[in-house]
Amino acid sequence: MATNITWHAGLTHDERSKISGQKGLTIWLTGLSASGKSTIATALEQHLLHYGINAYRLDGDNVRFGLNKDLGFSEADRNENIRRIAEVAKLFADSTTVAITSFISPYRADRDTARKLHDDAKLPFLEVYVDVPVEVAEQRDPKGLYKKARAGLIPEFTGISAPYEEPLKPEVHVHSDKASVEESVKQIADYLVAQGLIKKLE
Ligand code: ADX
Repeated sequence: MATNITWHAGLTHDERSKISGQKGLTIWLTGLSASGKSTIATALEQHLLHYGINAYRLDGDNVRFGLNKDLGFSEADRNENIRRIAEVAKLFADSTTVAITSFISPYRADRDTARKLHDDAKLPFLEVYVDVPVEVAEQRDPKGLYKKARAGLIPEFTGISAPYEEPLKPEVHVHSDKASVEESVKQIADYLVAQGLIKKLE
């Protein structure tokens, strides 16, 4: 715990927003491994950038190579993984960027903490549940991890030997086994426009 530190207030979010011409927010994607989070997050990021909205994606598989390379997949490590990501996403949102996070984030309490962090800073936060039955994720298995988990080679694998607590009231619920990537992106973008969080995309 750091001592002798003082918070230094600079520009407010509104001041920054006026200059950049856009609002910052965090779009928090949660779902099983192979649910399609990264694919949807990447397509959404591209879509927003294409319309001149500054967006930036934070992804589980990438962040774990850098910022969070000291963390594994125990419950405590996953808590810390999500805590750090939530703090980083909040900074991006405060900078008036649309932060798109793509992490399994299996624990409801962790996602609620991420939300509270944003609520306290008056930054919009929306939870997007990328929902797919575990059987479908297991069939897709693009990285062969479910197979390894079934063989007992990966302990605490989400959906197999570690829990996934589904969101109770996500702002957006996409069914990635039924909707195409484009449809899911549109569903999220439409929600953002309807809430006045981004301008109409045209
Ligand atoms: S989280 O649970 O802490 O949110 P995160 O999204 O960062 O997870 O990382 C998940 C990715 O790590 C998966 O997509 C998969 O590629 C890989 N991975 C490796 N081990 C595990 C595990 N035991 N459980 C889930 N994912 C794992």
